Amino acid sequence: MKKIAAVLVLACFAGSVLAQQTLKPEDMIKIRKSGYSFMSWNMGKIKANLDGTFNKDQVIAAANVVAATANSGMGALFAPGTEHDVGDQKTRVKPEFFQPQNQDKLKEVAGNYIREANELAKVAATGDVAAIKAQFGKTGGSCKGCHDVFRKD
Ligand code: HEC
Repeated sequence: MKKIAAVLVLACFAGSVLAQQTLKPEDMIKIRKSGYSFMSWNMGKIKANLDGTFNKDQVIAAANVVAATANSGMGALFAPGTEHDVGDQKTRVKPEFFQPQNQDKLKEVAGNYIREANELAKVAATGDVAAIKAQFGKTGGSCKGCHDVFRKD
């Protein structure tokens, strides 16, 4: 039974790989940077709400973007050929991101981020400001957890 499940998982994974568009390396770099920037803008909105007047709907909308970005499978935008600047696209990814010996660490920090981002969306929906503040901190910490290891300053 376990074997069948594993085969099914692999089959789904292969399916999702096949469903990827073919993107040029410079487009992958551009899109991943835009994704991170757009997410960061939404994190900033949540922070402004926590520091100033709290608008529940705005916080929910922003947290949903953060979670959706985390769930979007951005790993696909780090294909071979995107380890370095390409054309006019500069990248700050560290070589460590691609090294086989660091894949467990990468999975760990990416997993933390996905978990915290989804939790942020869940907590945002409650409108509990103190809980949102705490979960916002954890989510920000999960960004830093990856940047410290895999992104150049
Ligand atoms: C799994 C690792 C990882 C996680 C988690 C992560 N980032 Fe990043 N982030 C990167 C890498 C790698 C880059 C560099 C991308 C490049 O330059 O190609 C980056 C770049 C950025 C940038 C700069 C984009 C640009 O235009 O150059 C911002 C802003 C950013 N991240 C914000 C965030 C925020 C906010 C979070 C959490 C909500 C987050 N990141 C989570 C790895 C991560």
